[in-house]
Amino acid sequence: PVPTPAPTAWLHHPAPTAPRRHASHKGSFGDVLVIGGQGLHAGAAMQGAAILAATAALHQGAGRVFLHLLDNGQLAHLPQTPEIMLRSQVAALAQLGSSTVVCGCGGGSSVAALLPKVLEHSARLVLDADALNAVATDAVLRQRLKNRQANGLPTILTPHPLEAARLLATNTQEVQADRLTAAQSLADTLGCTVLLKGSGSIMASPNQPPRINPTGNARLATGGTGDVLAGMIAALWASQGQDSHTTASDAAYLHGQLADAWPAHRPLTASALAQMQY
Ligand code: APR
Ligand code: MG
Repeated sequence: PVPTPAPTAWLHHPAPTAPRRHASHKGSFGDVLVIGGQGLHAGAAMQGAAILAATAALHQGAGRVFLHLLDNGQLAHLPQTPEIMLRSQVAALAQLGSSTVVCGCGGGSSVAALLPKVLEHSARLVLDADALNAVATDAVLRQRLKNRQANGLPTILTPHPLEAARLLATNTQEVQADRLTAAQSLADTLGCTVLLKGSGSIMASPNQPPRINPTGNARLATGGTGDVLAGMIAALWASQGQDSHTTASDAAYLHGQLADAWPAHRPLTASALAQMQY
């Protein structure tokens, strides 16, 4: 008989999550800190992206959720989600070492200035959107990102194909032609877990077999669902404490599973997704 070749990647299915211990408290489920959401100064405000990530983290069970809006966003609280605590830049930077940090959602050009500190101090770090674009164009930031692995600080990158192409100094067509290779080479070069988004999201980490996410559908093709994913990753990471490869895979699965549960004839919005639970 001809031996079956080993698969190059596995479809991922999460293990069941353990019930919460009775004698637990909010500190048992971790702090998530979201940094992003450029203000209107550049002519295009993107605060919604950071708010979506923080909202998703809240609804997926993080113990506490903090939000720093860039450019001194004027809000003191979010009327729809008063549980989310707004923080100044100084306060946010002071809690990097005790937080699972999401950085970059709607960050615009304002996020780059904070990245040296975020990269150096965040206990666990999810980098998305404009934080990835900043790393792609700055060799010093890229080196600081690589240093995290040497310092035992885990990082999850969540590029869509264009963001991955910028990081790899190639184009979207090349990334999409071999998504597994693109994700794995980014993971190996930068010493991070990479979640390459799009239909059939790929999870790749150094020295781990890559995985393919089997859930999700084209209803996710609407603005802001990637920001929601970043918040979900952070909540699972903070509350369940699994390794980055498992966390990214479980969050991608959940994100797609929620979209699959949404009625087929109704368009999904990122706000609705951020508030869904399974
Ligand atoms: N099937 C399955 N999943 C899909 C599909 C599909 N057909 N289309 C999209 N998705 C999922 C992706 O896997 C990902 O999880 O929806 C999410 C989309 O994420 P992004 O591409 O980051 O989109 P968005 O949240 O709108 O990004 C907001 O940030 O990354 C920047 O340039 C981006 O300005 C944009 C902003
Ligand atoms: Mg995005």
